[in-house]
Amino acid sequence: MNLSDLIPALPIQPQPGQRWAVLGPEAEVFRAKFRLAAELTEGAVPSDLDGLLLAGALSARAEATPWLKQMLASMSEGTALVVVEWQGDGPLDLGPDLERRFKRGKLSRLLWEEGWSQIELLVNTPCCYVLRAVKAPLAPPPHAGEFVTVATLDELPKNRMKRVELFGQPLIVANTGREIVAFAQVCPHAGTSLLKGTLKGRHIVCPLHFYMWNVCTGEPVEPADEDILPCYPVRVDAESGLIQVALAP
Ligand code: FES
Repeated sequence: MNLSDLIPALPIQPQPGQRWAVLGPEAEVFRAKFRLAAELTEGAVPSDLDGLLLAGALSARAEATPWLKQMLASMSEGTALVVVEWQGDGPLDLGPDLERRFKRGKLSRLLWEEGWSQIELLVNTPCCYVLRAVKAPLAPPPHAGEFVTVATLDELPKNRMKRVELFGQPLIVANTGREIVAFAQVCPHAGTSLLKGTLKGRHIVCPLHFYMWNVCTGEPVEPADEDILPCYPVRVDAESGLIQVALAP
């Protein structure tokens, strides 16, 4: 598929009068096609755009650019973002597919951190990936901030883990030797149970492919570009030894 076949089929058409900007390695092609009025230069951070299109945005160059973070943070609520990634020569044999590249990449994390909460996948084929996001305040999950007693300190000696369920969600509470932590039971990589993994201090090693995460921050340790492991707030009552966990702060 070449780009001229692809563009008319894309379900993204800025409306007349809207102000969009387009950036990325394929920006020229998309800018001409959509007749986008707005021009944007690196370093400028407009906050009054209706939308931003990132063409070829999964490239390392675009993701690593600091002003992209600044721009995503400064854009107002309701602004739309469209990410288009396209491989003109067909799917590559090597490396993760486009969806995995997005999910593991810095752009995905940036969107989450900067409040781009409504993310909708529009096209997902081996050689084309299109998603739309809208900047909107994050809706707290049901029961957010409700601390629930799930274990006691006696049950969790150093490096011990326990599976608990919080409002239907399976979690693990664990003792790292320095603190009690709570994190998702399901491995972010391919969904196996981390309960069968190995807890080494602040690191959990998955039993299936041996990937490693920091259980205090959720940051992937090895490989470093893997998805974040969701972590949850914990309260420990030193007197009673009761351990409480909540789904969100
Ligand atoms: S399923 Fe956990 S590392 Fe692959």
